[in-house]
Amino acid sequence: MGHCRLIVDVLIIFISTSTATLDDHIPKVCSYASCQQMSNSSSVFNYCKTQNMTISGRCCFNSTTEGSHTLAGIDLSFCNISREQLKTFKTDLKMVQYLVLDANPLYNCSVEDFRGLTDLYFLSVPTTCSCPGELTAWEDITIQGNITTCQGQITCRQDLVPCPASSHCSGNGPGLAECSCDEGNHGYKCSRQGKFPTAGFAIGLISSTIVAAGVMWCSHRRHTKME
Ligand SMILES: *[C@@H]1O[C@H](CO)[C@@H](O)[C@H](O)[C@H]1NC(C)=O
Ligand SMILES: *[C@@H]1O[C@H](CO)[C@@H](O)[C@H](O)[C@H]1NC(C)=O
Ligand SMILES: *[C@@H]1O[C@H](CO)[C@@H](O)[C@H](O)[C@H]1NC(C)=O
Ligand SMILES: *[C@@H]1O[C@H](CO)[C@@H](O)[C@H](O)[C@H]1NC(C)=O
Ligand SMILES: *[C@@H]1O[C@H](CO)[C@@H](O)[C@H](O)[C@H]1NC(C)=O
Ligand SMILES: *[C@@H]1O[C@H](CO)[C@@H](O)[C@H](O)[C@H]1NC(C)=O
Repeated sequence: MGHCRLIVDVLIIFISTSTATLDDHIPKVCSYASCQQMSNSSSVFNYCKTQNMTISGRCCFNSTTEGSHTLAGIDLSFCNISREQLKTFKTDLKMVQYLVLDANPLYNCSVEDFRGLTDLYFLSVPTTCSCPGELTAWEDITIQGNITTCQGQITCRQDLVPCPASSHCSGNGPGLAECSCDEGNHGYKCSRQGKFPTAGFAIGLISSTIVAAGVMWCSHRRHTKME
């Protein structure tokens, strides 16, 4: 029974997201309980206001006319966030462009701490943390006392990530990039030609099979219970 409940809930969440408003979408990180004070002149909100974004708690969102809301900026200063805690917010921060982490216990940060944040354009960290990827990943780094700002993420510099022919480079967050084969090529150094099933297709197929199997399993259980 527990499994059926779960599958039904998942389906309901999946259906309801398409009509949800911003209020239903605000991630917990926007009202993170460990946060102390927040500057009333936060640079995040100045940025959001000039971009006409919607502000809520410590976050601001890019709301499109199609009704989707993307967390674009967040001020997490004075929030007692360690590198471990930062990991737990990663999913919510995926599309973030403007991230302030000042005055947090962050030491010796690595590129892994910011993996996947491909849209990040402005990052402000305690000087004890330093910009992930340093000058290979940022156009401009400024150190002012205990705050370091990293601006203009550089992705896929040709001299740093030389991708072989028949492949292209894609960024994976500050200081991280990978080469992927162009369509129609695969194998070692993308030198083999011909169609290769893409991962996206395979994943889509598997997950829809699981949902279908789950629904069938549930309805079967309901029938056997009624008998
Ligand atoms: C920010 O707060 C300080 C004191 O807390 C106040 O003097 C200042 O006017 C405030 N600035 C704005 C833009 O609200
Ligand atoms: C924000 O809105 C104002 C007034 O509606 C408009 O003048 C301005 O161009 C907008 N800015 C952006 C970046 O869309
Ligand atoms: C907001 O999202 C739209 C659609 O994804 C995008 O075209 C636009 O550039 C975004 N605005 C900002 C300020 O990033
Ligand atoms: C900050 O977080 C640590 C655990 O990560 C905790 O031990 C400590 O008490 C917290 N400090 C404050 C001031 O909340
Ligand atoms: C920076 O350091 C000074 C003194 O070392 C301290 O008073 C201040 O609160 C710190 N600011 C931040 C944002 O960490
Ligand atoms: C950060 O790195 C410095 C120098 O490598 C080291 O002395 C320090 O202990 C490290 N701090 C933490 C919290 O790991």
